Amino acid sequence: SSNLVSVTQISTSGLLLLFETAQSMRTLVRTVGGDSRLRHRVLASVFYEASTRTSCSFQAAMMRLGGTFLHVDGGAGGNTSASKKGESLEDTIRCLECYADVTVLRHPTTGSVQRVALGGGTVKPVINAGDGVGEHPTQALLDVFTIWDELGLSLDIEHGDSKNETKHAGQLVVVMLGDLKHGRTVHSLAKLLARSSIKHELVLRYCTPKTLEMPSHVKEYVDQFPNAKQEEYSDIREAVQGANVLYVTRVQKERFEDIKHYEDVKGAYVVDGTLMSCAPPGMIVMHPLPRVDEIHTEVDADPRACYFREMENGMFVRMALLSLVLLGSP
Ligand code: CP
Repeated sequence: SSNLVSVTQISTSGLLLLFETAQSMRTLVRTVGGDSRLRHRVLASVFYEASTRTSCSFQAAMMRLGGTFLHVDGGAGGNTSASKKGESLEDTIRCLECYADVTVLRHPTTGSVQRVALGGGTVKPVINAGDGVGEHPTQALLDVFTIWDELGLSLDIEHGDSKNETKHAGQLVVVMLGDLKHGRTVHSLAKLLARSSIKHELVLRYCTPKTLEMPSHVKEYVDQFPNAKQEEYSDIREAVQGANVLYVTRVQKERFEDIKHYEDVKGAYVVDGTLMSCAPPGMIVMHPLPRVDEIHTEVDADPRACYFREMENGMFVRMALLSLVLLGSP
């Protein structure tokens, strides 16, 4: 199937093909801006939750490849869709795929995108742009692409000749900081890193306030992979020692049923110049964005801060994904 609802669908060979294509998309954009391989193709961009990066990068990706898009605001802003009249999500997507070739869907209900893609009577590809606290697979794709790109692991890791193999001593240490309970980006990222840890050992260090720990279903999934280890930390200064990546997340205020619980944990952690001064010189800092106050703006000028480059990579990876989903080859 051409649906993408979970990173558990992604094979290593698929990942390599996608990343090779994303690299060529980056060159294409930086040299001539794009091409027309998706001419006359239409993307339905359907967002029932707020988005800047995911919606706009998918739309820009489509346009840079000569295609176009139609955007449906299902509630993020004004709710102009027929769901306001009581239409089911399945019927709305069946309607849109009469006009479009692929649907990108974000919805607040965990599992809803899977439900529509796999059992909703749809016949065209559906891509999960975030389903509640479930998954955000395209974010994980751009995150792993960024990690490989920034650390110089790149595609060579698969061929066993990474130029940084000595530097990384065959180990990739990723600290995940913040709201790991509600953060769908870290759920997808932990799983995808575990799936792609073939030539190296993966160490995932979870550093969270007590009530925001990584869900057990994610830990159990990661546990299946012999090269993946999971550790818990409470002190961020300890967690970053020897780390290659610090992946920061926002406390997801909108997911709390009781605002008092949010007030208890907000501001519980911060990445600032002081933390960066005791972090390894080669450790990159990532964040899916948007941020609130968990990374001070003083960190932005640090060359290790790569969250804006990560955001830019989102368009290249989504150009590659749309090209592969709609044309079947780079
Ligand atoms: N990272 C991410 O999903 O950002 P948006 O909510 O802006 O799409």
